[in-house]
Amino acid sequence: MAKNIKESIKKIQSEAENTIKEVKNLDSLEKARVRFLGRKSELIGILKQLKDLTEEEKKKIGTVANRVKQEMFELIKEKGAQIEQKKNLEKEWIDVTAPGWKKRRGHRHIVAQVQKEIENIFTSMGFEVADGPEVETEYYNFDALNIPREHPARDLWDTFWVKEKVKGKRKKDGARRFAMRPHTSPVQIRHMENNKPPIRIIVPGRCYRNEATDANHEHTFYQFEALVVDKNISIANFKDIAQKFFSQFFGQDLKIRLRPSYFPFTEPSFEFDISCTVCGGKGCKSCKDSGWLELGGCGMVNQRLFEAVGYGRDQWQGFAWGFGLERLAMMKYKIDDIRLFMSGDLRFIKQF
Ligand code: FA5
Repeated sequence: MAKNIKESIKKIQSEAENTIKEVKNLDSLEKARVRFLGRKSELIGILKQLKDLTEEEKKKIGTVANRVKQEMFELIKEKGAQIEQKKNLEKEWIDVTAPGWKKRRGHRHIVAQVQKEIENIFTSMGFEVADGPEVETEYYNFDALNIPREHPARDLWDTFWVKEKVKGKRKKDGARRFAMRPHTSPVQIRHMENNKPPIRIIVPGRCYRNEATDANHEHTFYQFEALVVDKNISIANFKDIAQKFFSQFFGQDLKIRLRPSYFPFTEPSFEFDISCTVCGGKGCKSCKDSGWLELGGCGMVNQRLFEAVGYGRDQWQGFAWGFGLERLAMMKYKIDDIRLFMSGDLRFIKQF
């Protein structure tokens, strides 16, 4: 009887070892555990029957059965650990031969790039870069620039007015309201109030206009202003500096054209055009088929501005201009619609 039981235990052990060896996942391992070590398993059945054996048989068979039980328990435990480890390795697996992902890096917006380029050219010519607020008082936006409230020239700038009134001390009669500045010219006044001539500044900055947009007009755009104040300054100095700047910026000599115009803060005043680089002067959407692109206004500083900032009259001469920064970028990079700059379209932005 004892011999038969021993044989059975051996058989159970070898069957358990083979089964556990083949097990591939934790579910099957649990089934194997129930089959070989569960309450209804053959081995546990044998252990329950030990009570019917003689003392000597009980000892012999009991020792063997308990050893086998312990070994099977260890085997299952070990197999479980192996399966867990394999699962973790699979999770952490890295294909070192797979091609890498190119990291997308941001870069300066095309407008910021052009602004930096302009600043570099002018600082190399001895200019300083000046700045001023985008939410500006009526006084600096208009009054100090010789455009009083009732002046019809105010209509030239379609302005976004801010509801809030200017608090505190009023600047003369004009400083009643705030506006999103429609041009960079107020910085001329702010700078002259705080500095004595000689002055050579450029003012790149964002401007706002309450106007309908098209291929050449945005409600939010950039200008860059220039102001030179010194003794014996004439329009010839202006043309010389402008020519130097354009040949450096475009790397080629462009045709420039001055047309008589009117700005209350310059006298005489001009519109400044350059030959269209998009179509080479033949005519296209960006130059409205004229072959020329209007870059901005310019002229000799009106002596009234010098009076407003305390320089006195006829002591100094100066010239100033205010050019559209996007318009320059459009000419340089042959962009035929200004609205692309702020469109947020990455296909456009990534090109530069
Ligand atoms: C002015 O703003 C004057 N302050 C310029 C000036 C400065 C004249 C100093 C004399 C002395 P104007 O409104 O023309 O002028 O604008 C100048 C340039 O800014 C335009 O020629 C154009 O290039 C650009 N600009 C004006 N409005 C827009 C707009 N809505 N969208 C894009 N660019 C614009």
